[in-house]
Amino acid sequence: MILQCPACGHEFSVDRIVGYCACGSPLLAKYDTDSVREIVSSRKFPSSVSSMWRYAELLPVRSWSSVVSLGEGWTPMLSSRGLARNLGMQRVFIKDESRNPTFSFKDRGLCVAISKHIELGAVSFALPSAGNAAVSMCAYCAAAGVRAHVFMPADTPPVFFRECEMYGAETMRVPGTIADCGTRMKKLAGDWVDLSTTREPYRVEGKKTIGFEISEQLGWNAPDAVICPTGGGTAIVGIWKAFNELEEIGLAGNKRPRLYAIQTEGCAPVVRAIENGQDDIELWQECRTRALGLRVPKPFAGQLILRAIRESGGSALSVSESAIDSMRDAVARAEGLNVCPETAVACLGLKRLIELGKVQTDENVVVLNTGAGYRYSTSISVNGRNPVYL
Ligand SMILES: Cc1ncc(COP(=O)(O)O)c(C=O)c1O
Ligand SMILES: [Zn+2]
Repeated sequence: MILQCPACGHEFSVDRIVGYCACGSPLLAKYDTDSVREIVSSRKFPSSVSSMWRYAELLPVRSWSSVVSLGEGWTPMLSSRGLARNLGMQRVFIKDESRNPTFSFKDRGLCVAISKHIELGAVSFALPSAGNAAVSMCAYCAAAGVRAHVFMPADTPPVFFRECEMYGAETMRVPGTIADCGTRMKKLAGDWVDLSTTREPYRVEGKKTIGFEISEQLGWNAPDAVICPTGGGTAIVGIWKAFNELEEIGLAGNKRPRLYAIQTEGCAPVVRAIENGQDDIELWQECRTRALGLRVPKPFAGQLILRAIRESGGSALSVSESAIDSMRDAVARAEGLNVCPETAVACLGLKRLIELGKVQTDENVVVLNTGAGYRYSTSISVNGRNPVYL
């Protein structure tokens, strides 16, 4: 296994800690897929492992003793009842990532990244985050007994700070967006490993297991489309990588899902780049959305995100901010699921794609429920104040 730059082809060893390429591109892990194909053809992936570690041959950690697992992944693909009916679809699958250890899909990436870096000797980690990734990193660092430092926008609901502190992490409140958090983090230049989205190669490796699971749960078949609420774009990049690797090891055919990136009108840099035919993503000034995980002004993996969307035959669209709450309520009533605002954005996106005729009502569509709604719908008292996030 090596790390390779998809932009300039430069290769890096996986035996020491590296971030991204000198040319400015994220790095991607490349496996010896011939040997994985041999192993997998004789015994498939072990179904007895009901976590994402069933795909260990296609994950970067070399020794089991380095794996810091809290039971992440192998989340259910729920067959929607009410949402599908409301949208006029014959069926919709909901990949329910809220079942992960800290209730979001961030656990997959942070579990792999922390395990791999610990294998390489790291003892301290840092990350700018909209909230869920911070909680996830802090939980895994606590489990591993290593230090965590998180930088979150000051207007992140207090429950995220509280949870990180519970895990023993150092938390920093930074005015502005996740981009400002990243700038502050860089200025402080601590002795930590930087786990910022796609600025290190292993979070995408964890995220790609969503793609493996979608395929396996559909009998090693690709759905027609996957609907991804998109901020930093790790799900898009990871799922695309997963389907390529499955084909390389002969477990799935060459059918790929169309990938749809959904954002809101208040922060839609991916959508603008797709609509303008650009090959990189430009900074979105004044990002404003209450789907906090989607408040990313300029994803670092811009070229990879755009390439995955285009190669898949998918697209990107933005939805109205004002419809988020009513969609959350509609999903709760239709499905019995308290989804996060980001998932409501994905559902609004699917609704629009059907209206536009880009998704047909008889297609197999998977919506990612990227996280639980609880942190966003709790009214908690902090220092005598009573913020309400409903
Ligand atoms: C709940 C939730 N959904 C979606 C996203 C966006 O994910 P990505 O950065 O992989 O595009 C985030 C990121 O913070 C999130 O917390
Ligand atoms: Zn490069």
